[in-house]
Amino acid sequence: MSEAKTQAHAVKTECRRYQGRVAIVTGAAQGLGRVIARRLAEEGAEVVVADIQEERVKRTAELLQEETGQRFLGLGGDLSQPGVADEMMARALGEFGRVDTLVNNAAALIRMRLVDFTEELLQQAVDGNVWNTLRCCKAVLPHMIERRYGRIVNIGGEAWRTGFPFHTLLAGVGKGSMVGLTVTLAGEVIDQGITVNCVSPGSIESEADGDPAPVRTSYRDPSWTGPDVMQELAKLVGSRGISMGRLSHPTEVASAVAYFGAPEASFVTGQHIGVSGGMAMI
Ligand SMILES: NC(=O)c1ccc[n+]([C@@H]2O[C@H](COP(=O)([O-])OP(=O)(O)OC[C@H]3O[C@@H](n4cnc5c(N)ncnc54)[C@H](O)[C@@H]3O)[C@@H](O)[C@H]2O)c1
Repeated sequence: MSEAKTQAHAVKTECRRYQGRVAIVTGAAQGLGRVIARRLAEEGAEVVVADIQEERVKRTAELLQEETGQRFLGLGGDLSQPGVADEMMARALGEFGRVDTLVNNAAALIRMRLVDFTEELLQQAVDGNVWNTLRCCKAVLPHMIERRYGRIVNIGGEAWRTGFPFHTLLAGVGKGSMVGLTVTLAGEVIDQGITVNCVSPGSIESEADGDPAPVRTSYRDPSWTGPDVMQELAKLVGSRGISMGRLSHPTEVASAVAYFGAPEASFVTGQHIGVSGGMAMI
């Protein structure tokens, strides 16, 4: 494993806010989701990691269990499809008997101009950035409502409010609707002991996810974000007058997620926080 560019900014914790708690993190086979799952386990949680990359998520669960000493359950499946999130919830309850926190992190990172989308990709972008979150929320709510306790944390992305090009589907539709969902669902369950909040990263060094031998292949299709798009985005980030001008280490994002997902965030709901080095302010 090579040293991450953002290693100097890695965040460590000595909190134990998740002792005896169970969390589900979606899209946790790799990247930010993997780091969030490890952070919650470091704080005492038992964790269900769910991902469309079945083999990889099982391997991640095994590695994180060894690393943290906490119990993990790795589940494969496309969460945008009917029934898959319900099955994930049933397996989580069968294994751990409760679910306290859901982190909706899974996303299809398709960055291109709207005019370049094929009909098929449009469908895939909406499926992978809207339906998975909706279905996961719907699957956990009956259990949370029954227990009168729950924490839902949605992973957004600053491009929904900074107008970055190439992000119409991923951020405009996916993350914009996620912010709307955060607020309206928070209102819907406000008297049922459940909070719903959203964390929006800026640009993350997703590869710094701690995997000792990262698998080369990924769910992301190389055609979704060409090298030209990445170059243009890097220029745009660099040209912003006010921003820390670097990528975030994923642990810097995970620490904000851990706060919203913990019992202590009991009076905070329907909120959005950017963890983006000042890319957008308030
Ligand atoms: N990488 C960034 O710079 C950045 C910036 C802003 C926001 N974000 C957000 O952070 C989150 C994580 O990003 P990342 O960089 O780690 O991405 P990633 O592509 O490395 O990881 C996403 C994970 O979600 C899984 N996944 C995708 N669709 C799924 C589905 N339908 N069902 C189950 N699993 C599915 C993938 O297999 C993958 O493991 C995403 O919500 C992303 O939009 C990332």
